[in-house]
Amino acid sequence: MELNTIERDDIGAAAEDLVVPPAATRKVFVKTYGCQMNVYDSQRMTDALAIDGYAATDAIGEADLVLLNTCHIREKAAEKVYSELGRIRELKAERAKAGREMLVGVAGCVAQAEGAEIIRRSPAVDLVIGPQTYHRLPAVLAKARSGEKIVETDYAVEDKFEHLPQPKRAELIRRGVTAFLTVQEGCDKFCTFCVVPYTRGSEVSRPVAQIVAEAERLADAGVREVTLLGQNVNAWHGRGEDSEEWGLGRLLFRLAEIPGLARLRYTTSHPRDMDDELIAAHRDLPALMPYLHLPVQSGSDRILKAMNRRHMAKDYLTLIDRIRAARNDIALSGDFIVGFPGETEADFEATMQLVEDVNYASAFSFKYSPRPGTPGAEMNDQVPEAVKDERLQRLQALLLKQQQHFGASLVGKTIDTLVEKPGRQAGQKVGRSPWLQPVIVDEKAGEIGDIIRVRITKTGYNSLFAELA
Ligand code: SAH
Ligand code: SF4
Ligand code: F3S
Repeated sequence: MELNTIERDDIGAAAEDLVVPPAATRKVFVKTYGCQMNVYDSQRMTDALAIDGYAATDAIGEADLVLLNTCHIREKAAEKVYSELGRIRELKAERAKAGREMLVGVAGCVAQAEGAEIIRRSPAVDLVIGPQTYHRLPAVLAKARSGEKIVETDYAVEDKFEHLPQPKRAELIRRGVTAFLTVQEGCDKFCTFCVVPYTRGSEVSRPVAQIVAEAERLADAGVREVTLLGQNVNAWHGRGEDSEEWGLGRLLFRLAEIPGLARLRYTTSHPRDMDDELIAAHRDLPALMPYLHLPVQSGSDRILKAMNRRHMAKDYLTLIDRIRAARNDIALSGDFIVGFPGETEADFEATMQLVEDVNYASAFSFKYSPRPGTPGAEMNDQVPEAVKDERLQRLQALLLKQQQHFGASLVGKTIDTLVEKPGRQAGQKVGRSPWLQPVIVDEKAGEIGDIIRVRITKTGYNSLFAELA
């Protein structure tokens, strides 16, 4: 894609001439791409900026600071950022004409992967900040405000979480009754298709005390359901309050003791890190929701090997059997990549067979996207786009059928629902099933934050309709 370039002078005025708003009235617009970890990070950056005097706004046109929290996982995700920056460049020029400053920052995984290249391609960008340095954002902004272009992509030695300010209780209440909590970051697994080890750095687990304190603050603000996040969340480990080494299973048991927290989830997990204690938690911990996102990517051993997943299809199926033996109503979800280099029709059929064998409640599937710097991008026998398209369609048709089948199987059943927010239509509220589907109920069925017993009456495209049981 051809992108226009712009120099500072082209936008009507040099930064020094622009009116810098007094701290208390500054506004920040944050746009988030990619995974839930970016959603969490965007909140933490917003919290840090609140202390710096920036109020969050949904109207980009009135923002003194625009922050894009970006995703690099597939080519499309990264390109979206550049086209958005093209639009922002025009907005920035308009604001400059009106004598107002608009700083533009790029955070997240594109920032980490492309660094200064972003400013070269999009000179409207003032600062580029990688995911491990968000606690330095206020300092970086102060420099950017004086007209300097900043690229901050070192992996910081200090723990960013320790240095990021906690949100105010009122802000947590405003965010609702479900929350994300990042407990682990980075990845050491180096699957040959994936940029995450390069954009997020090596695996780091947050300490138990930090996680427990944050979960307690969330619960105190009325949060009922917490989803623990990590690129490989089940690789989380840490020294527990009893000085023993804990895995994610133990941590979940500990968090379930916090008064008010009724539901726990975790995502994304890697099949190689599902240990016995975590599987036992699915059996013994009622607060742990019976839903597991466990990506496998492919059903072909040859492709799994080329992907460096370091397990075979059969290992995955055996693992699923063990998990289902522990919790028979568990709903499974997964990620799939079609058209990895060298994938033959037979390899793809092995994936279709694995999907048939597992029977997923939901799943995400993608065409392989070669990413610069990953081994997969260098491999011979890249699969033609048309073949990827055709395989993706077949796979998605099968996954959709399974998803609809799962939804339909719930009709007539009585389930617990966490009432989450007002519905899109008047008179309705939306809740969340144990299996993560939106559940639409009458607004009088319960207050936000209540867990109510409902009977499923019918299914929508992606949701369930229910009445009080
Ligand atoms: N840590 C998780 C996945 C994180 S990335 C795991 O190991 O399972 C989220 C998903 O994006 C992956 O599961 C994969 O299906 C998809 N993905 C990652 N890199 C990709 C690429 N280069 N092309 C297409 N899909 C990709
Ligand atoms: Fe990427 Fe997940 Fe593989 Fe890590 S384990 S390299 S995050 S796909
Ligand atoms: Fe994307 Fe980075 Fe998440 S590449 S998927 S935002 S870890």
